[in-house]
Amino acid sequence: DIPAVKDVLADHFTVGAAVEPAQVLGNHGQLLARHFNSITPGNQLKWDATEPTEGAFRFGDADTLVAWAKANGAAVRGHTLVWHQQTPAWVFQDASGAEMTATPENKALLLARLEAHIRGVVGHYGDDIPVWDVVNEVVDENQADGLRRSRWFEIAGLDYVRTAFRVAREVAPTAELVINDYNTNVPAKRDKLHDLVALLRAEGVPVDAVGHQMHVNVQWPSVAETEAMIAKFTPLGVDQQITEMDVSIYTDSSQSYPTPPADVLRTQAYRYRDLFEVYKRHSASISSVTLWGLADDNTWLDAFPVTRKDHPLLFDTRLQAKDAYWGVVDPD
Ligand code: XIL
Repeated sequence: DIPAVKDVLADHFTVGAAVEPAQVLGNHGQLLARHFNSITPGNQLKWDATEPTEGAFRFGDADTLVAWAKANGAAVRGHTLVWHQQTPAWVFQDASGAEMTATPENKALLLARLEAHIRGVVGHYGDDIPVWDVVNEVVDENQADGLRRSRWFEIAGLDYVRTAFRVAREVAPTAELVINDYNTNVPAKRDKLHDLVALLRAEGVPVDAVGHQMHVNVQWPSVAETEAMIAKFTPLGVDQQITEMDVSIYTDSSQSYPTPPADVLRTQAYRYRDLFEVYKRHSASISSVTLWGLADDNTWLDAFPVTRKDHPLLFDTRLQAKDAYWGVVDPD
């Protein structure tokens, strides 16, 4: 039997995978349980899944995953309470059904909905979900203030972030609260995120951890840049988590391989090895590393940024261990 990823890395951090209910109910559950000790519901805790219409919460699909995790001794990362995507239109509509404009009344209504949503979702799970991606992708390094111009921001300014963390803390006092984002290795974005976390914490907003998505590819980013990403946040004393790692075999959107070339898969294995070596060097400040999927038969990258078959994970389309798996498990 090949070594379990979670056992090999047990001294460093928990190791997770993003999953869908059909996977744990089908034949992927065994592979998942053997190699991973954490899961992240890929879609089932997003606003459109949990509160598709106002006040009518639906937890069936997420409950399936949480029950599976309990039965299999895995932790659960809650993803995500606030995002500018996969959020129903009603959230941003005023009392008359019109798209909200930036007025004090609309801001109050939006923040009340945000608070009710977080109370409903976080309250439903209690201790079963001990870590939440409270806000997702709120940084835009091209803005002087570093804040994405989402509907959330346009109507509520930074207060939506403050409210989200404060309410989550109130409902789940012991849960770890994460600010999660992509491209946090890019120096300009990393620095804006850092300054935002510093500002929020100075205000007493309960941001416990930074989540680095780490959607990367076989060439990018460099080890040095990844190392600098982690090092940037250690002086803040926050926990860090790798939340959505995958390593695309493609380096630009014009490429498409009918089958993944062996040399590319080997390069991918070295990437996994080198990046996990960075995480291990910093494991004092990294509590978990999660991959955004289990095996190459089911990856969001098949549809992003263009439609083509990608192979970004540790196990192949037939659930067999890839070179990438050995890069993580046997780095020498
Ligand atoms: C993706 C899911 O994996 C897809 O199934 C869905 O269609 C779109 O969202 N960053 C995130 C994740 O924070 O929530 C996204 O997940 C991938 C990018």
